[in-house]
Amino acid sequence: FHVDIDAAQADKGTYPFYMLKEIDEQPNVMRKLSQVYLNDDGTPVINADLLDAIKSADRLYIVAAGTSYHAGLVGAKLFESLAGVPTEVHVSSEFAYNQPLLSKKPFFIFLTQSGETADSREVLLNVNEQKFPSLTITNVPNSTLSREATYTLLLHAGPEIAVASTKAYTAQIALQAILAKALGEADDQAAAKDFDVKQQLALVANGMQALVDEKATFDKLAKSALLHTPNAFYIGRGLDYAVSLETALKLKEISYVQAEGFASGELKHGTIALIEKDTPVIGIITQQKTAGLTRSNLQEVAARGAKTITIVTDALAKPDDTIVLPTVDERMTALLSVVPGQLLAYYTSLNKGLDVDKPRNLAKSVTVE
Ligand code: AGP
Repeated sequence: FHVDIDAAQADKGTYPFYMLKEIDEQPNVMRKLSQVYLNDDGTPVINADLLDAIKSADRLYIVAAGTSYHAGLVGAKLFESLAGVPTEVHVSSEFAYNQPLLSKKPFFIFLTQSGETADSREVLLNVNEQKFPSLTITNVPNSTLSREATYTLLLHAGPEIAVASTKAYTAQIALQAILAKALGEADDQAAAKDFDVKQQLALVANGMQALVDEKATFDKLAKSALLHTPNAFYIGRGLDYAVSLETALKLKEISYVQAEGFASGELKHGTIALIEKDTPVIGIITQQKTAGLTRSNLQEVAARGAKTITIVTDALAKPDDTIVLPTVDERMTALLSVVPGQLLAYYTSLNKGLDVDKPRNLAKSVTVE
C-alpha cells in the first residue's frame, strides 16, 4: 500500500533516529489533540452520530495488535471509569479466529496507527459482515481500516516512522480519554462531568516535557541497568500492569533484551523463579491503592538479588525512588509512566549500536496475517 507522507513532517531533522524525535513530539501531540477535539471550555467535539451509536451499545470491544492493544488496555479503564460502559480488549489475531460470545448490542473500536494491520482488518471484515457498528482510531487518513469502519477518528500525531510506536500509543490513550469523557457526559455520568480532560492533557503535556528534558538521566540508567542484561522485568498492577506490558515491548523490540511485563502480584506464582542476581526489575507505581503491594513485590525480588528500579508519581514517591513522575489524575498516569520506558528502550538500543528505527525481523506495519 502507498501512504502519502508529508516530506517536511517526516524529516528526521537533527535527530539521530526518528524514534527520539517521535518521543519528543508527544507533548505537542497532546496539545494538538486537545485543540482538535476539545472546545476552549473543555467540552469534547465528537461526532454526535458516533456518540449515539456507542451509547446504544451495551458493550465495547476494543480490538488491536501490539502497542495499540496495550493502548486499548488503558482505554478500556477510561471507558469503564468515565462512561460506565463495560469494555473488553482483544488481540486482533486471537479475536479473528476465536471470537468470544458477544453481547446483544456490541460496538467495536479498532486502534491502529497504520490503519493497515492485516490481523485487525480481518476482524473488521468479520464485524462488518455481522453488521455491527465500528470506529477506527488511526494515524493515517484514508487507510484501509479507516475507510472500512462505520466511523473514524484521526490521531493527528504526524507521521510515525520508527518501527517502535511511541507517540501513536500516547495519542490513542489521550483520544480514548476524550471519547470516554464525551460518552460519560452524554450519559450524565458524574465521573465524566468531574473529569477535566483538557486540564489533564495540559498537565500531561508539561509532565512529558519534563521527562524528555531528562535524556541524560535515562541514557545513564540504560547503561547501568539494561545494557548488559539478557533479560528484564517491568511489573505493576492494574493500569501500571498495562503500562508494564508496553514498556517491556519497547525494550524487547529495539534492544533485543528478553523483557517481560508482569502483574506484580502474579510473580510469586511461578515467574519469580527467573529472578537471580542483578536481574533488572522495574516497578511502575502510580496507583495509590496498589502502591504498597507493588513495593513489597519489589522487596521480594530484591531479596533474591534483583536490581530494582522504580517509576513513581510524585504523590506516591519515597526518598530512594529512581524516577519520579509529575502527579496527574490517576486515570491518566499511563501517559507519563510510559515515557521512561520509551527512553530506556531507546538508550539501551542506541548504546548497543543497534538500528533503533529499524529493528531486525520487524516491519512498521504488519500487512500480512
Ligand atoms: C509497536 O511498537 C510495534 N510497532 C507493533 O506492535 C505495532 O503496534 C502493531 O504492529 C500494531 O500496528 P498498528 O497500530 O499500525 O495496527
